[in-house]
Order: sequence, then C-alpha cells, then structure tokens
Amino acid sequence: MRIFVVGGAGYVGSHCVRRLVAGGHEVTVFDNLSAGHRRAVDPGAAFVQGDLADRAALERVFSAGRFDAAMHFAAFLNVGESVSEPLKYWQNNVANTLTLLQVVQASGVQRFVFSSSCAVYGEPEDLPIVETLPKNPINPYGNTKLTVELMLAHSAPAWGLGSVALRYFNAAGAAVDGSIGEDHDPEIHLIPLVLQVALGVRENIRVFGTDYPTPDGTCVRDYIHVEDLAEAHLLAVQACEPGRAEAFNVGTGRGHSVLEIVAAARTVTGHPVPLVVTARRPGDPPALYADSDKLRRACGWQPRYLDIHRVIETAWRWHHAHPGGFER
Ligand code: UFG
Repeated sequence: MRIFVVGGAGYVGSHCVRRLVAGGHEVTVFDNLSAGHRRAVDPGAAFVQGDLADRAALERVFSAGRFDAAMHFAAFLNVGESVSEPLKYWQNNVANTLTLLQVVQASGVQRFVFSSSCAVYGEPEDLPIVETLPKNPINPYGNTKLTVELMLAHSAPAWGLGSVALRYFNAAGAAVDGSIGEDHDPEIHLIPLVLQVALGVRENIRVFGTDYPTPDGTCVRDYIHVEDLAEAHLLAVQACEPGRAEAFNVGTGRGHSVLEIVAAARTVTGHPVPLVVTARRPGDPPALYADSDKLRRACGWQPRYLDIHRVIETAWRWHHAHPGGFER
C-alpha cells in the first residue's frame, strides 16, 4: 500500500514507519518536527516537512500521492499540560485532525489508523480494561482522543471510511538494534526518566505517590513495547474495512508498578537508581492494564515483549548509545 503517515518522525510513529517500510509498503511521512526528529525517519520513506494545520500543504501531498491509507500519530501527549492549556490540545489533537480527515475524505482514501490512548477510559471500574468499558476520560488529553474516535465512528457510515483506533497503553522500549528510540523534550515518561538517572543525567527518580490501592502502593501500568505497537499498526491498516470503525486496546495485559520498573532498571543497568517519594501526580489512575484479546482475535496480533526487563534493555541500549537523543 501507499501509506501517508502524519507524525512519522515521532517516537511511536518512527518505529511504525520502519515496520511498514520493512513490510514492503510505500510510506510518505508528514511531520512538522515540533516533537519528532528527521533522523528518526526510516531512509526508505519519503519525508515532507509540514504542519497539520496547513490544509494547503496537506492537499498538495494528497493530490500528488494517490494514497491507499493514512495513519495519524501527530498529537500532543502531556496530560498535565492538557489540563493547564486545554485549547492547545483541542486545536492540535482535534481541530487539526478534523482538517486531516476532510482532506482524506476529499482524496478518496478509505483506510485510516489512529493513535488513540487508554486515557479514553479515565479511571476504569474494572481490570483488565476491555474495549466495552465506559469511556470517561478525566483530562483534556483523553477527551481529545475520544473525540477523534467519535469523528471516525461518524465517518464510517456517512462516507465509508474504514478506520482502526489503537488505544495504546504505555508505549515503551526502543528498536531492538538500537537505531531509533524515545527522545522527548522535556521528557515526562517513567522509563526514560529512570534511565536518565542510570546515565547520570538526573540524580534520582521521583516516585509520585506510594499510597495508591495497589500491591506496593505505587501506580500500575501496562508497558507495551514500541515494536509490538508497530506490528499492531501493520495489521490494523490491513484490517481496515470500508464503512467500519473499530477500536482496539494495545497492551500486554500485565501491569507493573513504578517500584517494579525502578527495580527492573536497576537490574538491567547495574546502577542503584536512587528514588525519592513525592506526592501523587494529579490525575494518575491507580492501575491501568489492557485486555487485548480483541486485537489478537481480529488480527492475529501477538506481543513479543512480555518481560519488562527485555523492554527496558532495548530502551537502555538506545539511551546509552544516544545520551543526548537524536540531535544533541
Ligand atoms: N511516574 C513517576 N515518576 C515520574 C514519572 C512518572 O512516579 O517521574 C509514574 C506516574 O505517576 C505513572 C507511571 O509512572 O504512575 C507512568 O507514568 P508516565 O508519565 O510514564 O505515563 P502515564 O501512565 O501517565 O501515561 C499516560 C496514559 C497514556 C498516555 C500518556 C501520555 O496512560 O495513555 O499518559 O503522556 F498516552
């Protein structure tokens, strides 16, 4: 397929582009490089630097491209920032996606894969999380993701769009050959922050709360390897059916606490990784982990990284070789 990938220079996007190219697809990446990195883009993909807010730029690429599918990774993802600057999130994550979908509709493209999030569930009433649980996002970020899912659901019967929304749990790890990995500025996610401590870039890791109703009192998350996520995208784009909007969880089904992540990072890096317990971070649900059976059954997806040590090992290889990230 000829696939248009918005946000293909970002963390999850770049790993997916690599997988699509390896799978024989012809990929065009469209990214404004506000959070992505040119060097993260697979050399086998075409690259256009452009902004989703720029309808004319999108139209130019679509009129030249004759794409079979579009994938959309480009969004802001800092939950705390989404609370303090909600309109920035509604503009980029929703309004700009609306522009993209309008261009997609006009161009006749009928397959669309969207990066959604477990944040659409808010604080789930049951675990593991199945797709049918109520969607009650507790922050603007989660609401923007859910809103785009609704746009996709409405588009399916109205103009025949075939879409898959993949609800990622916590994306983690790096390409197993160490060539690309996670590079956010500022970094906000647990595993890269812990590895920065092991690298000596930070003195300690702050543990946000030890009084949650979980076995060791710290929050539990489902860390899904970025290459397993990439595989899910490859399968999802093949599974898009005209007129149908689907949504799938993408997680391992296993939860790990913050303290378990720190302990695993100590084992992998051999560094003591000192920690400091601080207050809870507002808006953190105690535990989130996925039931991903729907994706397994529908697409034959099978995550390969079920051992958190292996996930952290791949991230460590990347961070160790690129302590300053892609550009620094
Ligand atoms: N944490 C710490 N110390 C830190 C950073 C994080 O204790 O310095 C804890 C958090 O409180 C949380 C866990 O580590 O319990 C993981 O935190 P991350 O920030 O790495 O990721 P989140 O679980 O907050 O991820 C959420 C949603 C995702 C969403 C993502 C967007 O679960 O769906 O935010 O950034 F995509």
